[in-house]
Amino acid sequence: MDSVKLMMEEHQNILRMLEVVRNACYGIYKGEDICYEDFAKMIDFIRNYADNHHHGKEEKLLFNRMVEHLGPVGTKLITHGMMVEHDFGRLYIRELEEALEEVKKGDDTRIIDVIANAVGYTNLLKRHIQKEDTVVYSFATRQLSKEIIDQVNQETADFEAEADKNGTRTHYLDILEELEKKYSK
Ligand SMILES: [Fe+2]
Ligand SMILES: [Fe+2]
Repeated sequence: MDSVKLMMEEHQNILRMLEVVRNACYGIYKGEDICYEDFAKMIDFIRNYADNHHHGKEEKLLFNRMVEHLGPVGTKLITHGMMVEHDFGRLYIRELEEALEEVKKGDDTRIIDVIANAVGYTNLLKRHIQKEDTVVYSFATRQLSKEIIDQVNQETADFEAEADKNGTRTHYLDILEELEKKYSK
């Protein structure tokens, strides 16, 4: 299994969900009611597909090797770059969830925090994905030895087999399609 190719395909699915989130926020901006159930699904996708499933592979299978084998450039790019951005993403989503709860309880002023955190997350992740697609992944495939790349690919195949047992991919792609129908431009 080509790990990098798979992760670039996952980026395309994540980008589709980012559009859903932006469209949902535009609806709120125009005065539509917040659908809490749909936001819960978006957050579920972001936490479990984008973060656990996708960032999980990056962090546990690829980025760890880059830090280990690619010297100061690897450390700078990964530890001080990509990993920090993964953490910022988690913070945005936590704050989005808090703001949604406050609005649900009746505090309308927190609507701006719903939009700010959701849109902030989409902008962060779009830039992050672009950096990985154009710089980080190609740096990894150029600089890591064939032996290590083979190992990453094998571990990715094992990771995917395990995820398939739980139906992770199908489940989240179904959520994506369902929400896309509702939140298209
Ligand atoms: Fe990443
Ligand atoms: Fe990524």
